[in-house]
Parts: sequence; C-alpha cells; structure tokens
Amino acid sequence: MKIELPKWYDLHVHLRQGGAMESFIKAQISMGCAGVLAMPNTSPPVTKVFESDTGDGWSVESYADMIRKAGGSAFLDFIVPLYLCGKTTPEMIENGANKKVLRACKYYPPHGTTGAQSAAPLETYINNGVFAAMEKTGVVLCIHGEEHGLSGENYFGRDGNAEETFYKKRMPEIVKKFPKLKIVCEHITTKIAADFVQKSGPNVAATITPQHLLFTTGDMVQGFKYHLYCLPLLKFDRDREALRAAATAANNTKFFAGTDSAPHVKKATDCGCAAGCFTGGYAPQLYAQGFEAAGLNLSDGKAQEIFKRFLCTNGPAFYSLPAPKETFTLEKQEQSVTPLQTPDGAVTPLPLGVGHSTIPWSVQKF
Ligand code: DOR
Ligand code: ZN
Repeated sequence: MKIELPKWYDLHVHLRQGGAMESFIKAQISMGCAGVLAMPNTSPPVTKVFESDTGDGWSVESYADMIRKAGGSAFLDFIVPLYLCGKTTPEMIENGANKKVLRACKYYPPHGTTGAQSAAPLETYINNGVFAAMEKTGVVLCIHGEEHGLSGENYFGRDGNAEETFYKKRMPEIVKKFPKLKIVCEHITTKIAADFVQKSGPNVAATITPQHLLFTTGDMVQGFKYHLYCLPLLKFDRDREALRAAATAANNTKFFAGTDSAPHVKKATDCGCAAGCFTGGYAPQLYAQGFEAAGLNLSDGKAQEIFKRFLCTNGPAFYSLPAPKETFTLEKQEQSVTPLQTPDGAVTPLPLGVGHSTIPWSVQKF
C-alpha cells in the first residue's frame, strides 16, 4: 500500500545549533518536510527579533539565517518563533510583525523543560502588553502548556498534573482576555487539553507528537525506556484515546503534526535524563502507525484524507504557510531504523530507543 501526499510541515521541531544542525535539517528533509517551525530554546535562546535589537541572545533574523545556511534554504518556508522572556516588549512584537519577520512567539514555563531557564511566568505577558500586541498583529502564540513551579503529586499525580492544571486554570484566562489571539497548544498530552482545544474557537489549535499518539506512561516505565522521556510527559490510556480521537476525527481542522523532535546526543546522564524524543527521518511513518493504532485503515481513501488533514493540511492553513506542490510517498513496507550520525555524536531515533530496529511504514527518501 502506497499513499502519495503533499510534502508536509513539521510545526514543532528542535534544530539546535552548531555542527549537528545540518544533520537535523537533512533528517527533516529526508522525510518529505516542506518546512518547519524551528524552536527557539537554543543556546543562547532566540530572544530578539532583529540583530540590531538590544540585549543578549540570538535574533529571529540570525537564527533563520543559520538555518538557511545549514540546508534550510531547501525548505519552501519555515518559521522561527521568538522566545518570550522578561525582556520581550510589545514594541518588539509590533515592529517584528510589521516588518514581516515575526510570525510566532513561544511561551515556555520557566524552568519547565530543556532550555526554559530564560522564560518568565505567564502573567508577565498578560500584564505587560506582549499578548495584546500579538493579538493585535496576528502573531501566533505557541504555548508549552504546563503550569510551572509544581512538584510531587501536583506535577504528576493521580488526580492531576502540570498540563491539566494549565488547561483548567491558565488557558481559560488567556482566551477570555485575548479572544482573538491565535494560539497553538503544543504537544498536548491530556484529554483535558484536547477537550479545551476542541471547544475553543477556530483561533485555538494544537499539535500532537508521534510519541503521544503511540505510547503511554506504562510503556516508558516498564523497563525504563528513557528514550520515551519527553516533556510534557506521556500520560494515560484515556488521554491517548482523546488525542487519537481528536487527530483522526473526520472533521478535524484544529489538530496537526508537530513532532517536537528533540535530539540529545547525551540522553541519559549520571543523575538524570534529558527530555526529548528524536523522530527526525521517521515521523510520517510513526504518525501513520499511530493512526492505524487508533483504528483507521489507511488503505481506505477516506482514512487517507483524514490522515492528510492532520499531517499536511491543517497546520499550514493555521499558520498561513504556502501549500507545497511537491509530494512524497508513504508505503506500508518495513523500514530499518538507524542512529543519526552528527558531528556532535550519534542520536538515537525513538523507535530504536524503545527497542525497535524496524518500523512498519517507510517513506521515499529525499
Ligand atoms: O521533551 C522536550 N524536549 N520538551 C521540550 O519542551 C523541549 C525539548 C528539547 O528541547 O529537548
Ligand atoms: Zn519542543
């Protein structure tokens, strides 16, 4: 069985910086990516729009240039969001949007994940005019929806977790105060988040990663498969069911692909584990596997249309990205999975990290 699809956009990926960036971009292109949204939690983070802006950090301009030089000029288009921090001002947003350099901003919960130490609490941008400027100019808010500063049972417990708290308490406030703000609820992992997106207006959408469609906490803790450790953490069956239902609904316009592919050359350390699953080179295949696990028969034309909406259509429509004319082919044919060699060391793709040296789907390579 073969499915020909338009090239797709990975609307949440970590391309990092330095020598390995070229390898990560190649991995994206090899799996039919027309473009990406490249996360700004780099080192240093992308906290300025223009190089001439005052302050530390890279600029959207300079990081975009770096991506282009590392092979990203082959993309039809790509977005670099601005990393929101205490130094972000409404003027930066307006100026960047007016000059068409700024299309999105990223909220990280302070200290909540890899590279989130430069972030400021959500209230900062609610109160200092940053979200208002984004709403006014149509700049998309990419949101890592987890309540920051929680610990123990409040962070991850039987009766709730950081993401559920965020979607119950913070998101209703944001959409009430900024009803026209375009928001992407990134890498959602819970039924509560999926329901929130479902019942919000068309300006609120969400990305879902392959790992959250395929796995649950149980898969990670049994045999401690640390390659499944990413943030937000995998959740439970009822959550995965809700994500699968959202992604595979026939009328889905709000849920789309954003892999959160996050390469770490050193994943496990002596005292912990870096958060992030690397799916570069294998994401459409894993999404197809997730759709099949959700009960879709991908040899059926209607199911293929639903898959296409999720992988190829909804995301670029939300971000107003150009529609790719080129196509790529997914095939139900076993493919072997190998580590990605980079100048910084080898990165283990997720399937290998959970002990699978082959996957059921393959893509025609670019
Ligand atoms: O698992 C994750 N890894 N979640 C994030 O939010 C960041 C990412 C990374 O940069 O490694
Ligand atoms: Zn991410």
